[in-house]
Amino acid sequence: MSAVLSSTSTVPLRSGRAMPVIGLGTWQLVEDTADTVSYALDIGYAMIDTACDYGSQAGIGEALERRKRREDVYVVAKVEEDDDAYLATRKYLDEMKLDHADLMLIHRPPPDGVGEQLWQGLVRAREEGLTRDIGVSNYTIEQIRELHDATGEWPIVNQIEWSPFGHSLQMLDFCREQGIVIQAYSPLTRSERLRDELLTAIAQRHGRTPAQILLRWNLQLGTVPLPKANRRKHLEENFGVFDFELPDSEMKALSALNEQYSALGMLAYA
Ligand SMILES: NC(=O)c1ccc[n+]([C@@H]2O[C@H](COP(=O)([O-])OP(=O)(O)OC[C@H]3O[C@@H](n4cnc5c(N)ncnc54)[C@H](OP(=O)(O)O)[C@@H]3O)[C@@H](O)[C@H]2O)c1
Repeated sequence: MSAVLSSTSTVPLRSGRAMPVIGLGTWQLVEDTADTVSYALDIGYAMIDTACDYGSQAGIGEALERRKRREDVYVVAKVEEDDDAYLATRKYLDEMKLDHADLMLIHRPPPDGVGEQLWQGLVRAREEGLTRDIGVSNYTIEQIRELHDATGEWPIVNQIEWSPFGHSLQMLDFCREQGIVIQAYSPLTRSERLRDELLTAIAQRHGRTPAQILLRWNLQLGTVPLPKANRRKHLEENFGVFDFELPDSEMKALSALNEQYSALGMLAYA
C-alpha cells in the first residue's frame, strides 16, 4: 500500500465513498484561521477536521468560500453529547456556510448509553443530504458494538487519539474487520514526544523530522492522521510525507513504543 501512496491518495470507505489519507486538524487553530486553512488547501491538504468547541468554523467557511470548488475538500465535523444531533448539524453547517459535510461524528459517547439518539439524528441529517457519511469519535470497541446492535449500522470512522506511543492493536484489528477507518487525532502527540530517542534516530536516518515519521507511520498503517499546525513551516512539513517509506523493521520498532500514552491524559478507547 505504502508504495503507491501519494498526496492525492484516498482511503476507501464502506459507503463506497473515499476520504483523503491525511487531513488538517483545527483544534486551537483560532488565529488567522481562514488564511491558515487557505494556505493548507493551496499546498494540497484536502480534508479539514473541526468541532463546535474548536472555534475554527467561521475561518474554515471563509477559506472554503475563497475556493471555486467546495467538492474537492472533505469536511469533518462533530456533534456534542448533549446536542440534538440533527439540529446541531444544521447549526455547524451554517457556521461554516456549507450545505453539507462529508462526515459528521458523535464527538464522544454520552455519559449514559452509547448515543443511539445522537446516531438517529445523524441518520436523519444524512437522509436529508446534510452529511454524506456518519461515524463516531472516542468510542471503545464495546461501545461501537453496542451502537451497532442498537442501530444495525457500523460507523464509517472512529476518530481517536493515535500515535506510536499510544494506540491499540485490538482496535486496529477490530476496525479493519468491520471496515471502520481510524482517524488519528493528536498524531504528533501535541509535540510532547517529538524528542524521543528512537523516533529522532529514525528521523535522522531518513533525513526527515520526527513529526514526519509519526505521520508516515500512520499512513503506512492505513490510519488517517489529522495533524494540526498553525505555522506554515509545520503545515508544509506535515504534508511532505509522500516521498519516503519506512521499512517494516522501523514500522515495528515504532509500534513497539506503545505505552498507552495520551497527550490528553487518557486514551478514551483503551
Ligand atoms: N475527536 C476528538 O476528541 C479530538 C481530540 C483532540 C484533537 N482532535 C483533532 O485532531 C487534531 C490534531 O490533534 P491536536 O491538535 O490535539 O495535536 P497534534 O496535531 O498532535 O499537535 C499539534 C501541535 O503540534 C505542533 N506541530 C505541528 N506540526 C509540527 C511539526 N511538524 N513539528 C513540530 N511541531 C508541530 C503544532 O504547532 P503549531 O500549531 O504552532 O504549528 C501544535 O502545537 C485537532 O486539531 C483536532 O482537529 C480531535
